[in-house]
Amino acid sequence: MFGKKPEANKSRAWKKLEKHYKKMRDVEMRDLFRKDPQRAERYTINLDSMMLDYSKNRITDRTMAYLLMLAKESKLAEKVEAMFKGDKINSTENRAVLHVALRNRENSPIYVDGKNVMPEINAVLAKMRKFSEDVRLGKFVGQTGKKLTNIVNIGIGGSDLGPKMATEALRKYWGKDIKCYFISNIDGTACSEVLNKVNPEETLFIVCSKTFTTIETLTNAKTCRKWLVDALGEHAVAKHFVAVSTNAKEVEKFGINTENMFEFWDFVGGRYSVWSAIGLSIAIAVGMDNFEKMLDGAHEMDMHFKYTEFSKNIPVILGLLGVWYNDFFHFNNTAVVPYDQYLQYVPAYLQQLVMESNGKFVSNDDTFIKYQTSPVIFGGAGTDVQHSFFQMIHQGTSIVPVDFIVPAISHNEIGEHHEILLANVLAQGEALMKGKTVKEAYDEMRRAGKPKEEAKRLKKYKSFPGNRPSNTIIFKKVDPYTLGMLIAMYEHKTFVEGVIWNIDSFDQMGVELGKQMALSILPELQNNASGISHDASTANLIATIRRLRN
Ligand code: F6P
Repeated sequence: MFGKKPEANKSRAWKKLEKHYKKMRDVEMRDLFRKDPQRAERYTINLDSMMLDYSKNRITDRTMAYLLMLAKESKLAEKVEAMFKGDKINSTENRAVLHVALRNRENSPIYVDGKNVMPEINAVLAKMRKFSEDVRLGKFVGQTGKKLTNIVNIGIGGSDLGPKMATEALRKYWGKDIKCYFISNIDGTACSEVLNKVNPEETLFIVCSKTFTTIETLTNAKTCRKWLVDALGEHAVAKHFVAVSTNAKEVEKFGINTENMFEFWDFVGGRYSVWSAIGLSIAIAVGMDNFEKMLDGAHEMDMHFKYTEFSKNIPVILGLLGVWYNDFFHFNNTAVVPYDQYLQYVPAYLQQLVMESNGKFVSNDDTFIKYQTSPVIFGGAGTDVQHSFFQMIHQGTSIVPVDFIVPAISHNEIGEHHEILLANVLAQGEALMKGKTVKEAYDEMRRAGKPKEEAKRLKKYKSFPGNRPSNTIIFKKVDPYTLGMLIAMYEHKTFVEGVIWNIDSFDQMGVELGKQMALSILPELQNNASGISHDASTANLIATIRRLRN
């Protein structure tokens, strides 16, 4: 679509960055701060009540100029436009990529194959509003006339992680009597543990699957269906099961009336589907008005991404910094640490978003790539993770850039809890950047009265290398609007990185081989059938499992 282009690492800007990196690798951030009192201000972007501080990065104005040049050489502006226009930028699957249409709150027409997709999107939103309100108000009730207060989402990957992350993030907004549950894993434990907690008369199952062929989801849905039918009879299915899918035929085959189906489209990737009817559990939990506020927030980030010049564009800056560390410093891990318990599932959500999107080794020009693509993403809620992996973040031999996500106000302002939490996150960013020299560590111990010999022996252990990068994203409070902004910000950051790496961020062929092999191993475990020939290790594992299970 954009013509063949030179490999990303052969471009002029890439070469300049390689040279520039050699100068930057020994530059200390604390010196940059000392020399430049305006640094924090210059490397800060405000958008509504959200603020990104990216000053604690190993960058100068020259770095940013080269990174922006890289964006230009990668035709980022053209590709952003192509996505918003509905061009088929998912080239391997020949599909448009239009999660932005799901939250196109201005309702401007967006065309795919000459057809405006907005009327269908609006119709599904209206259907979601009616259904979620009916459930919340007790107008759509279960088979025995009881209100449906247990909402069980059955799905996996994008059909689980988004709703699970967002319902948890917005727990404070849940309707009084609503409880949400998520079944994703094929492990029977996932299903049993939820079914043990709910009662059939008051339970609504939402089966979410874009394809409606995913073995985990269909197996879990069948088990739940049987559990319901055993308790309330076959008729109850229509009152207790709805589906969200692009595949009406399979939904019908499964035994869910397509009137109880909420549609979405193949221009919405699984990991980008939280904004579609896949978000039905969110809408029921927090109400459709709040769900739409989430769409509004995402739309604000979309408009910022689409229209703001790249030097002041939050997702662009974040994406460029990601490339800077991943491909030039070779820092191939990124930690995301939200300082809010309600955001605890954000890192897991981002693992799919980032690694399924950008964990690719073939470029859009059909060549094998010779540079680093997706980093490894991990994380967890602060301050918990300060007591687990932060030792490595501060003193480990590999450097892990960190994103700190910080709401200024907590939904639970109890005593000093939130101030202590905030003090901690600010301290982490500062400590990572400044570190503590061996001499500083020694002097500190001596001041505290440690004997000379002991201080000498411990000074290296108690030093911190510092110069470790972090971004801080601050906003007022975790509310639906801000959550929408935050998630859209990461989606676009991921897009920017994918464009620079010249990959298709919207397919996921890497998940297929394992699925395919599992299907052939299954009969070998179930019937002792002999399947494909295995390597010695796998054959031995199969034999051992058969023996243990017998
Ligand atoms: O395993 C990959 C994947 O296709 C994801 O991209 C997707 O989110 C998940 O499986 C679930 O797929 P579906 O919604 O079709 O059940």
